[in-house]
Amino acid sequence: MITVPKKKLAVVTLGCQMNKHDSERIAGLLSGEYDLTQRREEADFLVINTCSVRDKAEQKFFSLLGRLRPLKEANKKLVIGVAGCVAQDQARAIIKRESMVDLVFGPRALENVPAMLERFGRTGEPQVDTSDTGIVDEFSMSRESKISGWVSIMEGCNNYCSYCIVPYTRGGERSRSPESIVKEIRSLADEGYREVILLGQNVNSYGNGLLKKDLTDFPELLEKVDKIDGIERIRFVTSHPKDLSAKLTEAMANLPKVAPALHLPMQSGSDKILKRMNRMYTISHYYEKVEMLRKKVADIALTTDLIVGFPGETDKDFEATFNAVKNIEFENIFLFKYSPRRGTTAAKFSDQVSGFTTSERFERITQLQKEITDKKYGKWVGEEVEILVEGRSKKERARYTGRTPQNLIVHFQSDIDYTGEIINIRIDRAGKYSLDGQMENPISRG
Ligand code: SAH
Ligand code: SF4
Ligand code: F3S
Repeated sequence: MITVPKKKLAVVTLGCQMNKHDSERIAGLLSGEYDLTQRREEADFLVINTCSVRDKAEQKFFSLLGRLRPLKEANKKLVIGVAGCVAQDQARAIIKRESMVDLVFGPRALENVPAMLERFGRTGEPQVDTSDTGIVDEFSMSRESKISGWVSIMEGCNNYCSYCIVPYTRGGERSRSPESIVKEIRSLADEGYREVILLGQNVNSYGNGLLKKDLTDFPELLEKVDKIDGIERIRFVTSHPKDLSAKLTEAMANLPKVAPALHLPMQSGSDKILKRMNRMYTISHYYEKVEMLRKKVADIALTTDLIVGFPGETDKDFEATFNAVKNIEFENIFLFKYSPRRGTTAAKFSDQVSGFTTSERFERITQLQKEITDKKYGKWVGEEVEILVEGRSKKERARYTGRTPQNLIVHFQSDIDYTGEIINIRIDRAGKYSLDGQMENPISRG
């Protein structure tokens, strides 16, 4: 029997978790014909999965494209595809200006990629697809992790925060049916996965657009997932504060597998700025939600996203954000400098803040959060924690890495490979963004 060797696919991912998950889908869709490779120079098809959330992310794509030029010149047969949010937003411009790009497809048209490749192979004509194939319930996937699996539960966003390009690139909210989500997670459990991370731009509005027979809200979905044998931990991103309900808080408090960790983007501490951002909550609402979560969910870890230098942000507005960060004490923050995005409302505001002021504000919050993170991580020293072991540490091969229920990274030494198991670790040192520890009563399996 003659077996035809598969072609090679390389995927470079530049965006968020949803974007990374899309890369897994692209690889899955093409797995019949292509094997994944990490080495770009041996690829037959190279996909750049792009992000346009800030200008910096978008520039990363254009500079990568420049660096790939010699590869394309050396191998004329190499097919280059551009996926993701820049592809959706600028498909025509890319195909017109970048002659080395053969395929451009948006995040809602992934399913059409095999057909696009086929057409390109046949005609040699560049292919563009920014259509919306609708929510897809069944999808083949080539997952990166064997322990923790991303599961998309809803896509798109209806919130139109005034700075954000995502509703334009990902379209409106659509939810997957609860059956197909549960089915996917069951098969993950059968394959040995121990954790799922439920993905959506705004998981709290899960259920919008579902058929009547499927009507399920997010806490009810968590309840269903919590019952699946084999899965030990459930995480989810992202939650919009305006929709964070008492019902979800109760679900987090009562469902044993739902991890006590929440990413709750605050964006700003100033009511005036929150209003201009179209966030639909005030800072006191935000404080109330934090209080409710901390009261009900034992040891919950909170993380957030913040933007500094939003148009019209005065020193007083900034101080409000600074104080909120100081008062709330998040485990970690993701801090961004405001970046005007084409087509968004905020890009048209006339009172843009100078780059100098934005950088100064960025530094001040970074410094403040460093102290808070040190303090928060330091508190775990001496404690025993349960970690899900994810595998060998990327930096030191002799060490392993896992995460606590709060999503804090823990490194430890072990002669035995406990990947995929939940083990107890005594924390003896807090590092910058991780903890170090020792196994409690190591089990000998020799
Ligand atoms: N759906 C998620 C993620 C959105 S993008 C959510 O609503 O939280 C992730 C983060 O990028 C946002 O929370 C915001 O802090 C930041 N962001 C989005 N647009 C931005 C812009 N134009 N400039 C700077 N930061 C931005
Ligand atoms: Fe963007 Fe706001 Fe939607 Fe998040 S909720 S994706 S920040 S528009
Ligand atoms: Fe994600 Fe970036 Fe698109 S954050 S949704 S890949 S713009």
